[in-house]
Amino acid sequence: MTIFIGGAWPYANGSLHLGHIASLLPGDILARYYRQKGEKVLYVSGSDCNGTPIAIRAKQEGVTPKEIADRYHEEFATNFKRLGFSYDCYTRTDTTHHHQTVQRIFLELLNNGYIYKKWIEQTFCTTCDQFLPDRYVEGICPNCGQQARGDQCDYCSAILDPVDLREKKCKICGNTPDVRKTEHFYFSLQKFAEPLRQLVDQSRKTASWRENAIHLSERYIHEGLQDRAISRDLPVGIRVPVEGYEEKKIYVWIEAVSGYYSASKKWALDKGKDDSEFWSKDAVSYYVHGKDNIPFHTIIWPAILLGIHQQKLPDRIVSNEYLTLEKKKISTSRNWAVWVPDILNRYHPDSIRYFLTINAPENRDTDFSWREFIYSHNSELLGGFGNLVNRTLKFISKYFSGQVPQSSIDPAINKRIETLYVTAGNLIEGSQFKRALEEIFELIRFTNKYFDEQKPWKLINDDPAACGHAIYNCTVIISNLAQLLAPFLPFTSGQLNEMLGSEELKWNFSSSVPREIVDIKPLFERIDISEIEVEIERLNQQPAK
Ligand code: MF3
Ligand code: ZN
Repeated sequence: MTIFIGGAWPYANGSLHLGHIASLLPGDILARYYRQKGEKVLYVSGSDCNGTPIAIRAKQEGVTPKEIADRYHEEFATNFKRLGFSYDCYTRTDTTHHHQTVQRIFLELLNNGYIYKKWIEQTFCTTCDQFLPDRYVEGICPNCGQQARGDQCDYCSAILDPVDLREKKCKICGNTPDVRKTEHFYFSLQKFAEPLRQLVDQSRKTASWRENAIHLSERYIHEGLQDRAISRDLPVGIRVPVEGYEEKKIYVWIEAVSGYYSASKKWALDKGKDDSEFWSKDAVSYYVHGKDNIPFHTIIWPAILLGIHQQKLPDRIVSNEYLTLEKKKISTSRNWAVWVPDILNRYHPDSIRYFLTINAPENRDTDFSWREFIYSHNSELLGGFGNLVNRTLKFISKYFSGQVPQSSIDPAINKRIETLYVTAGNLIEGSQFKRALEEIFELIRFTNKYFDEQKPWKLINDDPAACGHAIYNCTVIISNLAQLLAPFLPFTSGQLNEMLGSEELKWNFSSSVPREIVDIKPLFERIDISEIEVEIERLNQQPAK
């Protein structure tokens, strides 16, 4: 199999918080899992460095957009690495390569008759002396009457034209903007109505997209797809490659999603490889993002791909709901967020990965609380998994002088592990990461119980062979756990594999156990629960930005 995985492109205008990681982490689990299975994987993403958010941030700080983009791109790349994200290519949207690729895509859409010019009205702020970026117009949503941003209403998910908002305000200065005429390029989404409807129908029939993505896309299609303006009057971004229009920039809708294509081309160029098989009909493609990015991936991106005659439309849409923090909505402006560079300075990346998977906002919003986070680390990771490994290996060291007792695998245990590879694998492939991890932790609970019931500390005197048998079985399970958990907890799995002296990770039953256990280190350290209060206090003290 050939697997393409596209992770969403975070705006390089501020640090990543746990909400970003909750929505992006499934991409890395998929990539690691499929590689372990021996499939060909291409996992790409990058920093979105072009949009208005970067320009605004630069303006606030009185520096160039490039400085902002550089700063956060570096920070993202570092932090993704620290979290174990195994992108094959993590790039950025302000590279020449990306600009040229997007311009080529634009021209191809134009030549194929899917882009046309039109005079339209856009919001212009006379105080700021500029056309306003969509998300910097705020007002009342014409669809549901709630407060909304110009590009999209968070309340009813309608895609908006900022001109249609009621009681418009410029987000930069607070004044009411004018409406002025300007000429723009339009993307004929309507021409793709039929194939897009088929695509969404197909995803419903095969349940291959997350429910929120199917539902929202069906709604867009039902309400009727509108052609969309895809150029903007912005200072930074990718120039429209048409004579006389070079001052206009290509809008994020076309531009950022095309990053999937440009990043895979970049990967191919850098590594001397061919990316075409990842775009062939036989590949399987996954797109991983938060729910606010759904229409980018289920409507716009497939339409672009169809428009440039590409075969591979999104097979799997992994669109997460939101993560709340201590039961409240995460807010960067109010600084109600757990920042990734911060939490990584104090906690193990696998504790974060574990929590964000077992409490993943897969089908509904879920909450991150410091109490739950620290308890889940202490009870499940350390108390469950760490304890099983530690007591087994320590036992070998103490009673068998480090020599793993050789015995045979209990057929029922053997069967159980083999089944688990299939069950957990299917769940991962079906984007049900939380359930996959639960199944694996079920094996950990089972094994701890097995250890307790076998009472090896008694057997060692009463029946040494039976003791060896039990310990051998626990060791086989542990070495399989190192494999099963590798997509989820790569650092811990790596450490465990080192202790077990095994190298290659596979996704099927392994009967190999080491002859000897030499260096036993605990996999996790207990976090003192007094940290809960410390962390909550710290969160409350974070100054608003
Ligand atoms: N950076 C933008 C956002 O966070 C665009 C993401 S587009 C996608 O909304 F391609 F990454 F989805
Ligand atoms: Zn203004």
